[in-house]
Amino acid sequence: MDSQQGTPTLGVGMVGYAFMGAAHSQGWRTASRVFDLPLRPVMAAICGRDATAVRSAAHRHGWAAAETDWRALVARDDVQLVDICTPGDSHAEIALAALAAGKHVLCEKPLANSVAEAEAMAEAAAEARARGVVAMVGFNYRRVPALAYARELVRRGRIGTLRHVRAAYLQDWLSDPEAPMVWRLRREQAGSGALGDLGAHIVDLAQFLVGEPLTGVSALTETFVHTRPLPAGTSGPLSSGAGDRAPAEPGGARAPRGQVTVDDAALFTGRFASGALASFEATRFATGRKNALRIELNGERGSLAFDLERLNELEFHDQTQPVADAGFRRILVTESEHPYLEAWWPPGHGLGYEHTFVHQARDLVLAVAGGHHAEPSFADGLQVQRVLAAVEHSAANDSAFTPVPAPPEPALTP
Ligand SMILES: NC(=O)c1ccc[n+]([C@@H]2O[C@H](COP(=O)([O-])OP(=O)(O)OC[C@H]3O[C@@H](n4cnc5c(N)ncnc54)[C@H](O)[C@@H]3O)[C@@H](O)[C@H]2O)c1
Repeated sequence: MDSQQGTPTLGVGMVGYAFMGAAHSQGWRTASRVFDLPLRPVMAAICGRDATAVRSAAHRHGWAAAETDWRALVARDDVQLVDICTPGDSHAEIALAALAAGKHVLCEKPLANSVAEAEAMAEAAAEARARGVVAMVGFNYRRVPALAYARELVRRGRIGTLRHVRAAYLQDWLSDPEAPMVWRLRREQAGSGALGDLGAHIVDLAQFLVGEPLTGVSALTETFVHTRPLPAGTSGPLSSGAGDRAPAEPGGARAPRGQVTVDDAALFTGRFASGALASFEATRFATGRKNALRIELNGERGSLAFDLERLNELEFHDQTQPVADAGFRRILVTESEHPYLEAWWPPGHGLGYEHTFVHQARDLVLAVAGGHHAEPSFADGLQVQRVLAAVEHSAANDSAFTPVPAPPEPALTP
């Protein structure tokens, strides 16, 4: 029990403290200060491998203690929820250990680096759920109010029978061939490239908005730049982190280069169970596009369109209106009736990227407190992983249409 506020607490332990570590810290710090929650998250401990750096991160982001081994973090009595913000190569090991220890888990996307790992994680999460333990994947874009509202409109039938989904996630931070080598470009750490990093988000989002899984895909992938300089001490959200650093060559000589072993871009088409057709594009080479996640849905009764670079807005075309007046109109998704907005600012005072992590923390706390299922679940994460594997299989086989196995349980809420 929290003596200060009289609210029971939920001890959180987080592994990884760079880009997502900072973003999730914002979420844990803010959720119970904005939303009325039945449990107050307490930032108990943060974990990283470098003792000095992790202590500094704990101080900066507001964590009470620091650990240098994730196993010690999982074992702490004051940690009831483990938040995994590391690259994909450690997701499965940490999540499985945490679930086995009876801890709730939030795991960053993509859920794992392979379907086999994701299957083991989904199975462990289903077993844990029977014991009241909650597991969720960090597909945070579901928590952009405009996208949560788009889901409501689809669910209410406002765009009718769906015909098309058009999704693109475009960045440009690798367009310079001399941009340094980072963990995101190594298959053994990242699982895949733009596909798993950006493609995973739009696959999850499309399945979430439509409310049904993809049943098959046909794909092209490409690696445009095959080697990149090993960096000498860069850091930042989309950079290597401490583990990737290599000294520059003395005397201005060309730095040693590392081999890129993942895709730089992935393009694929897909089918939904209902017969709707989808197209997806994920790339880090779209010059001028910084974080442009765009998705459009066309149905018999209307269309919806969204761009993350204008994230407070949702475009809606109502096909049932008289043709002379119809057309796309902009909904400013900042009214208190819109998802998550009841607790924020007056209309028109927009939200940003970091608020998705506050909403993610809020929704997970509510699931833990209520003892109910959290979405996106590990089963949802496994479904996305199966789509990514089908994309890679198709791309390796002349774009052959590749079925995606049906989810093992109802992974997506109808
Ligand atoms: N939801 C989103 O929008 C979003 C955005 C970016 C990244 N991600 C995902 O978040 C995860 C992390 O990405 P990032 O951008 O934060 O990477 P990053 O390189 O910025 O940070 C990774 C952190 O993990 C730590 N780490 C790595 N291995 C570790 C280990 N074995 N034990 C303890 N700490 C370890 C590193 O030291 C670093 O602090 C990835 O799965 C990535 O796909 C999600």
